Amino acid sequence: MFLFNESLSVSNGRLCLDGVDLVEVAEEFGTPLFVFSEETIKRRAEEVAAAFGRENVYYASKANSNLAVLRLIRSLGLNVEVSSEGELFAALKAGFRPDQVVFNGAAKTMRELRAAAELGLHCVNLDSLCELDRLRQAARELGVEINVAFRVSSGVLAGTHTSFETAASFSKFGVTLEEAEEAYREALKGDGVNPIGIHCHIASQVPRVKVFEEGAYRVSMTARRIEENLGFKISEFNMGGGIPIPYARGLIEGLPEYFYARIPPQEVAARVRKVLDETLGDARLIAEPGRYVVGDSAVLLTQIQNVKRKGGESWVMVDAGFNVLLDAFSYKWYFHMVSANRAGEEHDQPYMVGGPLCDGGDLLLAGGQHRMLPRNLKVGEYLAVLDTGAYTLEQMSQFNGRPRPAALMISNGKVKLIRRRESLEDLVKNDFYEEK
Ligand SMILES: Cc1ncc(COP(=O)(O)O)c(C=O)c1O
Repeated sequence: MFLFNESLSVSNGRLCLDGVDLVEVAEEFGTPLFVFSEETIKRRAEEVAAAFGRENVYYASKANSNLAVLRLIRSLGLNVEVSSEGELFAALKAGFRPDQVVFNGAAKTMRELRAAAELGLHCVNLDSLCELDRLRQAARELGVEINVAFRVSSGVLAGTHTSFETAASFSKFGVTLEEAEEAYREALKGDGVNPIGIHCHIASQVPRVKVFEEGAYRVSMTARRIEENLGFKISEFNMGGGIPIPYARGLIEGLPEYFYARIPPQEVAARVRKVLDETLGDARLIAEPGRYVVGDSAVLLTQIQNVKRKGGESWVMVDAGFNVLLDAFSYKWYFHMVSANRAGEEHDQPYMVGGPLCDGGDLLLAGGQHRMLPRNLKVGEYLAVLDTGAYTLEQMSQFNGRPRPAALMISNGKVKLIRRRESLEDLVKNDFYEEK
């Protein structure tokens, strides 16, 4: 069977991550349970560092801002991208210096803008002229000057999930290519802000390298025109994130192309660099990869709680639903699934897989269809949902009275707890009532 990366293997028929038996881990720590591979995060971080230059990578912490993950990424010398006060707080707590942080977001609050200005972050990527005014106000009050760039929509459609098409003209983010010059003319008046670059995240899980090239071309040509017309140097080109990982194994009917995407970071960097060489010369190329750095580093372990035949279908019901894997619900995201107990067996039996939530849409299917798993699955066995390191911990909820699960990190063969499982008390700790 084709497994997902260098960290997964099968031993005694069971699935192992970096040599650690995942069934044993599930029995010890309970399920649902996320298990991360430190080796994989290191490997991916080194790949993006080699592609762009370590100092030019700002890891997108929205993908995973667990403190252990952030500390590991900081220890490898990468910088960080944040899009809220909370992510900024976590990044600083993990030891990143303010000058290692870039700040994105379409609705930054005055508190956030003040924090960015006061800390002296590397750059605030502005969404609009309105936001420029608000940041100026913050900088003036504090008597500081802060580096800025504008987020510019290239208008390029990536061919990924619609919600990720953030460079499209219909997206809520940034300013258009036509509006960019006016934005920079205004920013160049200074008054607390110092324009240093241009920002243009296209989309997440971009399926083809051509898309990065096209987006970079459109935005860097606009940037060059701005340089010429306004007489200033755009010294940083921030291409955002979007480097994909291959979620699908083998052909699955009905699954969009982007689930199969596999583009080495080196290729993305080389193609975009070539465009910049022709348009913006020696401008620094910055990238904000998130999914690529952590996506394939984790496995979600879930236990079968109920098995039945219904309407001619084989059903298994597991203890992880969209309370722990929101993308499976909101984007019908495909995550490959294997039996942890019987990873070495043929996965040739079609099953419908449901989560525990009181919602008919709480399903873990493959492109709306059956999952292929070993025959005769039994209550108590564990399934492993692969590639669950990005945009998972960040989106978990307590829906249906379910404490959020724990997460472990396997580090040099040792199992470390990096997030504790919530208790039942945690479900009600923020609620108040008056005695009647
Ligand atoms: C501005 C920005 N940068 C970086 C990212 C990270 O994208 P990815 O995780 O696909 O690399 C995102 C994700 O949506 C983003 O909006």
